[in-house]
Amino acid sequence: MAVSAKPTAFAQRLIGWQRRHGRHELPWQGQPADPYRVWLSEIMLQQTQVTTVIDYFDRFIKRFPNLQALARATEQEVLALWSGLGYYHRARNLHACAREIAFHRAGRFPESAQALAALPGIGPSTAAAIASTVFGERAAILDGNVKRVLARLTCAEQPWGSPALERALWKQADDRLPKRSSDMPAYTQAIMDLGALICRPKAPQCGRCPVASDCQAHRRGQVDRYPVPRIKRAVPQRQLYWAVCSSAQSVWLMQQPSAGIWPSLWLPWTIDPDALPRNWDKTITALQHVIEVRHSLTHYRMLISVAMLRHDGDQAPAGAPEGLKPFGWAEALSLPLPAPVKRVLARLYPVARATDGGPRRSKPA
Ligand code: ADE
Repeated sequence: MAVSAKPTAFAQRLIGWQRRHGRHELPWQGQPADPYRVWLSEIMLQQTQVTTVIDYFDRFIKRFPNLQALARATEQEVLALWSGLGYYHRARNLHACAREIAFHRAGRFPESAQALAALPGIGPSTAAAIASTVFGERAAILDGNVKRVLARLTCAEQPWGSPALERALWKQADDRLPKRSSDMPAYTQAIMDLGALICRPKAPQCGRCPVASDCQAHRRGQVDRYPVPRIKRAVPQRQLYWAVCSSAQSVWLMQQPSAGIWPSLWLPWTIDPDALPRNWDKTITALQHVIEVRHSLTHYRMLISVAMLRHDGDQAPAGAPEGLKPFGWAEALSLPLPAPVKRVLARLYPVARATDGGPRRSKPA
């Protein structure tokens, strides 16, 4: 995989294009670049699209305007604000990283990619994005968008997700960096913008691409062949059962352990499928409603059967696990909740209110 003849010209063309056509109004951009805002945005942008991140970023900045404010918050506050963004280890690492920098490094971000990558939640590409944007370090990024750009530029034959592809593309990313460190902030933004705006996964805009003449896939008329898709493995499906014990006033939830896919988040009573009788949802009394919810994670899909169980009073429901606690609906909805729990509660809240008491409710005088 040879790099094209003019790597510097490549960087300069990208930078020139970015100046005229790239994104300049993202809320974390600014002159001079603020390490706190750039770091926060880069953590949120791992595995999440810009359009989704913007609202979360604005809410975080409003609530935690600087690193000290974030470091002083509780983990539950941070998780609650992160709720719905997914991949919750990012929020816990974000908080741990803020505390490390605020309390052990006098509030100053390390200035090299290598030192940044030693902090919680900062991998090599995120470290390079911060170091190049804020401190002008000549460090290459390699996020999903940039991988796609480089795989097309070089007709990389290694499948997506393979270590061989990673190795080849890191080398490409390094070789194409501009020479001058003062060009690094614009270059880093440029290659990300190119991936997001021009070299898109579907319907790439090669006619508007500033580096189309360097692109081997374009020259061969095979842009849609690259990147070569990942080798398919069947994605396993897991069946979960949630019992949402609730009344018009309250809903019972329990906090998850601090390890696992939903660390320290709040879920309904999760019932062990092995302990379930067949047709479990038909045997439970006081059942009001059963819905099915799907949720996909990177390595498996979840199919969740949710039963809504009518439960009044402040005694825990019979047979409930320890730790199941009642919350007012508004409070429950402001807890740190995984996205599917948020969706489920939002759907069930009106049902709980509408069916409350049923015939037992006394009419207002
Ligand atoms: N993806 C990751 N970092 C980004 C950034 N700074 N701007 C736009 N998209 C990104």
